[in-house]
Amino acid sequence: MAKYQPRLDLTDWKRTSAQEVDKIMAIVAPELHSFIEEHASLSRLMDRVREGYDAEIYREALNQIGHELEHHFLFEEKYILSRLENHIPETEVGPIAKLKSEHDVIRKHHREALDMFEGHDPENPSQELIQKMGLLAYLLKKHIEKEDHYLFPLFSVILTEDEKKAIARDVNRPL
Ligand SMILES: [Fe+2]
Ligand SMILES: [Fe+2]
Repeated sequence: MAKYQPRLDLTDWKRTSAQEVDKIMAIVAPELHSFIEEHASLSRLMDRVREGYDAEIYREALNQIGHELEHHFLFEEKYILSRLENHIPETEVGPIAKLKSEHDVIRKHHREALDMFEGHDPENPSQELIQKMGLLAYLLKKHIEKEDHYLFPLFSVILTEDEKKAIARDVNRPL
C-alpha cells in the first residue's frame, strides 16, 4: 500500500503586508506592540519558508522560531495569560487553554523539524522535511493571524491599564 502522505491545503496563505501590520497596531494597545512587531518579522520569515527548500532559510527559520519559543511564547504565557486569568479564570477550556495548547503543538513540530533538518542531506532534501517545514510555517502563520486579528485587539480592551503597563515592564526586564 502506498505510504500515506498528508497533503496540506495552504491556499489560504496570505503574505505579510506592512500596511496590514500598521492597521493592527492601531487596534492593539501600545504596551503590547512589541508582540505584534515580533509576529510580523516571524511571519515574513515564514513567507520565505513557504517558497520552497532553501537550507539557509530553513536554518534561519528554525533558529528564529527556537528563540521565540524561549522568549515571545513564554512572555505571552507568563505575562499576558496570567493577567487574562483575572478576567477569565477558566484554564481548562477557552482562550488560555487554547493558546497554550497551540504553543505546545508548535513546540513539538519545531523540535521534530529541527531533528529532521540536522540530519538532512542538502543535496537531496526529503519530501518529509519540506512538508514538515511547510506545516510548521503554516501553523505559525495561522497562530499569528489569530493573535493579531482576534486576541491582541481583545486583550487590549479586556486588560486594565495597570495590567498592560505591568506587561510592558515585564517584557522589557532582562531575563
Ligand atoms: Fe502565541
Ligand atoms: Fe504571539
